[in-house]
Amino acid sequence: MAKEFALIGCGNMGGAIARGIVGAGLIAPEDIVVSDVSQAAQERLAGELGCAGTCDNVEAVRGAKMVLIAVKPQYLDGVVSAFADAVDDEAIVVSIAAGVSIERLEGLLGSSRKIVRVMPNLAATVRAAMSSLSPNANVSEDEVAQVKSIFDALGRAEVVPEHLIDAVIAVSGSSPAYVCVFIEALADAAVAEGMPRAQAYTFAEQAVMGTAKYLLETGTHPAVLKDMVSSPAGTTIEAVAALEAGGLRATVIDAARAAAARNRAM
Ligand SMILES: NC(=O)c1ccc[n+]([C@@H]2O[C@H](COP(=O)([O-])OP(=O)(O)OC[C@H]3O[C@@H](n4cnc5c(N)ncnc54)[C@H](OP(=O)(O)O)[C@@H]3O)[C@@H](O)[C@H]2O)c1
Repeated sequence: MAKEFALIGCGNMGGAIARGIVGAGLIAPEDIVVSDVSQAAQERLAGELGCAGTCDNVEAVRGAKMVLIAVKPQYLDGVVSAFADAVDDEAIVVSIAAGVSIERLEGLLGSSRKIVRVMPNLAATVRAAMSSLSPNANVSEDEVAQVKSIFDALGRAEVVPEHLIDAVIAVSGSSPAYVCVFIEALADAAVAEGMPRAQAYTFAEQAVMGTAKYLLETGTHPAVLKDMVSSPAGTTIEAVAALEAGGLRATVIDAARAAAARNRAM
């Protein structure tokens, strides 16, 4: 079998990543093998991508230059220890399992292995993820760049030291939920003003996406954009004043830091 890239776990994230790799032309389907405990899951993904599929993780990782682990954290120890000896010494092992440290992965694979811990978020499924990459000391800069190119193809990726993982969880890992609360509230306001519900969600979602896109693409500071759109005695500054009176800024900081604290405690 010996394929360049082996995916272990063909669920939501594993599937999204493999689709991103093939969609961006980073690795040819014939150089990919996908593996899952579920025959149906691996066959579905392999069929969709035109790559090889198997239920045998050991067979999948043997000879691979990169192994991506995308199983749930509670299965990780059992899954990795079962195939660890079959992984090539020079292979890069990438894990996206939440809460699983590099130290734990080194314990399972051996401390001389090349390991990259990655934390993507749900938006990987629509190629708009924000992912953090934390390599161990055995991974070269070129190898980090190789892994980064995969996660850049799924949105954006940044290399961060592993100790910042709690900040990553706070600002991107958990944040889709808080952004959804904001979108819901915005849509509720439009509904209260008479807009049909479905249309209100479309307006709110596009407004949030468009603002983020504008900031990312122009490099404008958020405070500058806020000032730009807040005309003297206009509508927007009234809303900004109400947000400040309601303590939105402090609430968001507290919420995101609560997510970080929870991650530290886990
Ligand atoms: N979803 C997110 O937003 C997100 C964000 C960041 C990180 N992550 C991380 O991504 C990883 C995958 O999450 P997910 O949401 O993609 O989970 P998922 O949809 O449940 O996918 C995991 C897949 O692995 C399969 N699997 C279980 N045991 C296996 C084994 N021994 N060998 C091969 N495959 C096996 C599962 O099969 P069965 O369903 O049959 O058990 C399932 O198809 C997790 O570690 C999670 O922490 C997820």
